[in-house]
Amino acid sequence: MNIQAFLSEKISVAMCAAGAPADSEPLVRQSAKVQFGDYQANGVMGAAKKMGIPPRQLAEKILEKLDITDVADKVEIAGPGFINIFLSPQWVAKQAEDALADEHLNVTPVEPQTIVIDYSSPNVAKQMHVGHLRSTIIGDASARTLSFLGHNVVRANHLGDWGTQFGMLIAYLEKKQNENAADMALSDLEEFYREAKKHYDEDEVFAERARNYVVKLQSGDEYCRTMWRKLVDITMQQNQVTYQRLNVTLTEDDIMGESLYNPMLAGIVADLKAKGLAVESEGATVVFLDEYKNKEGEPMGVIVQKKDGGYLYTTTDIACAKYRHETLHADRVLYYIDSRQHQHLMQAWTIVRKAGYIPDSMSLEHHMFGMMLGKDGRPFKTRSGGTIRLTDLLDEAQERARALIAEKNPDMDKDELNNVARVVGIGAVKYADLSKNRTTDYIFDWDLMLSFEGNTAPYMQYAYTRVASIFKRADIDENALTQPIALTQSHERQLALRLVQFDETIMQVSREGTPHVMCAYLYDLAQTFSGFYENCPILSAEDENTRQSRLKLARLTARTLKQGLDTLGIETVDRM
Ligand code: ARG
Repeated sequence: MNIQAFLSEKISVAMCAAGAPADSEPLVRQSAKVQFGDYQANGVMGAAKKMGIPPRQLAEKILEKLDITDVADKVEIAGPGFINIFLSPQWVAKQAEDALADEHLNVTPVEPQTIVIDYSSPNVAKQMHVGHLRSTIIGDASARTLSFLGHNVVRANHLGDWGTQFGMLIAYLEKKQNENAADMALSDLEEFYREAKKHYDEDEVFAERARNYVVKLQSGDEYCRTMWRKLVDITMQQNQVTYQRLNVTLTEDDIMGESLYNPMLAGIVADLKAKGLAVESEGATVVFLDEYKNKEGEPMGVIVQKKDGGYLYTTTDIACAKYRHETLHADRVLYYIDSRQHQHLMQAWTIVRKAGYIPDSMSLEHHMFGMMLGKDGRPFKTRSGGTIRLTDLLDEAQERARALIAEKNPDMDKDELNNVARVVGIGAVKYADLSKNRTTDYIFDWDLMLSFEGNTAPYMQYAYTRVASIFKRADIDENALTQPIALTQSHERQLALRLVQFDETIMQVSREGTPHVMCAYLYDLAQTFSGFYENCPILSAEDENTRQSRLKLARLTARTLKQGLDTLGIETVDRM
């Protein structure tokens, strides 16, 4: 049950009945002031102003019409006209029971939408690097969250698999094949790309061949297509290994690379011209946008086709949005791309909307994020200044986690240790990224992310094992818990309320695409559980009813933590 939505609805109805204008909307949220069950409704002031009456007078009328007898113990008017709602412990207990009885924690069903999530999107013949890491991790959490809620999620890996660089890559692959060294060269994609570029820059014969291959590839030449396919396949095989390691849900079927839209580009440019949106300018085809001004204050020109006939990244993104409407029937498209590409997207989308390629109701959202920085506040690099390879980074994470876990559990056998180190190490890297407000740059710090204290993966994973272990230790059958949840102590009430707030939390994450909100919630839940655990004995509770009620709260805590972490793509273990 989404308490926030439920109370908003109730207040809305009462407001209408009290004569407030139909468009007045109450904003209901948990009040920061009171510890338990205190939600506050805002928006009375605005409505009263429109009606020309004192806010408190309207608030009183609303209370007369408000029907929440079973829900609240007390409702009162505070300050100039806020409405404070004090939830009844019995009602909260009932919500907790319902969550416990339901496989989906009784999260309110949504009206399913088709939501395309554009994420990860590495480039062919290049190693995925830490820059792609954020998109992959945050995008996947979003995909998991929206799937959990019942939406039809389409994962779109917008692979950089097209462009003029492929002539050079094909020519270099050919050279390596002739030397019987293709496999080896492709095992290090970064090196492969660098070498290809070097040959292109330094060897005129090679460069000529490369240019020739670009043209051939674009006209569908079979040899070039085969070589291109090889580059794509090898890159994706390597990336797939990384996805699996990261517990990311992307599969080969989710690849919708730039090449997919290539057949649409000529038609789009012609159409933009026909619609008078694109014009010839110095040989290129350009769309001038009044919305964006250049330094001289003139409308900015966005090139959609170059002088030599080539198309651009923007042309592809225009086609891609159109495709996501026409073929995928998307209601929403979420783009997880770093903030440096914001202007690019805005320009592409402005053109898409002006050309009428998608309906107004389709929402295009740039869920941008900042850069990953080192502890020194500079872009995250190796000691010698190179880009850090993702595999090396993940190896180090596991290595460090292994040392920590081994120290805490000297008796743990090797297999288990390896598994826990994997879960904690990978979890730490992911969680560190997920738990920060994604719009800011973020500082990568091993010690912080692997700490057992604070809002970290190890803390959350450990909190989960602690709750789960209560059941294991006492060998309790969940189904034997027949007594109802009773909230008599304040720690019990706080925990129960926090538990049922999972619903409004996940709804917020799904609206805003902000997994850090889920992290903050889970962290708070784990801490609330700690407070409860210290103050309310569970197994040694004073009577059987209390014992069962507390066990149920613990059970729901374990399930909520696990489910919450699962929507983030963070694994748990039973002991660590
Ligand atoms: N391949 C691009 C890069 O590495 C990211 C693609 C993002 N998605 C998109 N629809 N433009 O920068």
